[in-house]
Amino acid sequence: MIAAIIAAGGSGERFGAAIPKALIQLGDRTLLEHCISSLSSVADEIVVSAPAGYEDQIRTLVGTEITVVTGGATRSESVRLGLAAINGADFVLVHDAARALASRELASRVVAALKAGDVAVIPALPEVDTVKVIDAQGYVSSTPDRASLRRVQTPQGFTYSVLKKAHEASGDATDDAALVADAGHKVRVIDGEERALKITTPQDLATALQFMGNAQSFSTGVGVDAHAFGQGRELWLAGLHWPDEVGVYGHSDGDVAAHAICDALFAATGLGDLGSNFGTSRPEYAGASGAKLLKETYLLISNAGFSISHVSVQIIGNRPRIGARRVEAIATISAALGGAEVAILATTTDGMGLTGEGKGIAAIASALVIKSA
Ligand code: CTP
Ligand code: MG
Repeated sequence: MIAAIIAAGGSGERFGAAIPKALIQLGDRTLLEHCISSLSSVADEIVVSAPAGYEDQIRTLVGTEITVVTGGATRSESVRLGLAAINGADFVLVHDAARALASRELASRVVAALKAGDVAVIPALPEVDTVKVIDAQGYVSSTPDRASLRRVQTPQGFTYSVLKKAHEASGDATDDAALVADAGHKVRVIDGEERALKITTPQDLATALQFMGNAQSFSTGVGVDAHAFGQGRELWLAGLHWPDEVGVYGHSDGDVAAHAICDALFAATGLGDLGSNFGTSRPEYAGASGAKLLKETYLLISNAGFSISHVSVQIIGNRPRIGARRVEAIATISAALGGAEVAILATTTDGMGLTGEGKGIAAIASALVIKSA
């Protein structure tokens, strides 16, 4: 049984916001929610030490599965109050709400080291600056060897009994490992991670946002389609019906712009292509509109964890004239793609090639998609 205490009882003085630091938004959620989402798959029980006066707000935010207690005047006091709410556990992780981006993997490595037999485990990074010890007058009293210095992070892990005993003396320290070490226990140091930085100032929030950006990957794809004009067919192009134009042959409605965009999206996401997803083996898509295929493609790639940053399509042909209906076409395609940014261009080819000779219409599309790690 693994319990986790999130120390969220601070006011965030140095950050300077009107609300406690744990409730500050980082991307799509608060610092506290980030911590919970990475600890919840590692810990069986989570206790949050909340700033006094914010208990109910935090209870609403974190839900009923998580215990919320009132924090204390110091971090150590907040941890002790959290510890008192744990009914018993083999191991306890103690984490700062301010280290919102510490990964689930980091917490798992701390637990793995505890399971391997250490009674106290802390993540840390090498110190890059030279550190000085100074005296009360502001003069250097010593220079510790930098190679032996580490910058310590959380989550820190302990066997329950060791942490409980270390806190019994009501000592105060900036981390729990200091109390445990004072009690005579060996503290194992494992590799920390840059993304587990402690968010102290607004500048740190910007750095954290960059880490979130790094956790996303971008990919691009290109798609091409062409159809020959066919007498007696209606023209559908870029999600729109063009009543006075000659249509094209095709298994579906022959919307080359929509099809090129679908293929660009499939190319960017590695999810096959138009044929493998909606081809002749799927009779339910026979005659399907371009807008429907765009929407189905959007659902497929969304389910696979992708979101669309941008798509563009260039239509190649002598007719129809796209310009007058460009805005309408962009709105239709964007709506089918969940509101994505869309650009539509058109060109002729100076009378050359199949489209220049007026035999049909072609389109080339590109897509930029984002996947969250
Ligand atoms: N903390 C706590 N109880 C306190 C003080 C701090 O639970 N009485 C928590 C903070 O919420 C934070 C972690 O300990 O998640 C590390 O502290 P720090 O980064 O210093 O946060 P704050 O104390 O909120 O910030 P500041 O010192 O700038 O006021
Ligand atoms: Mg503080």
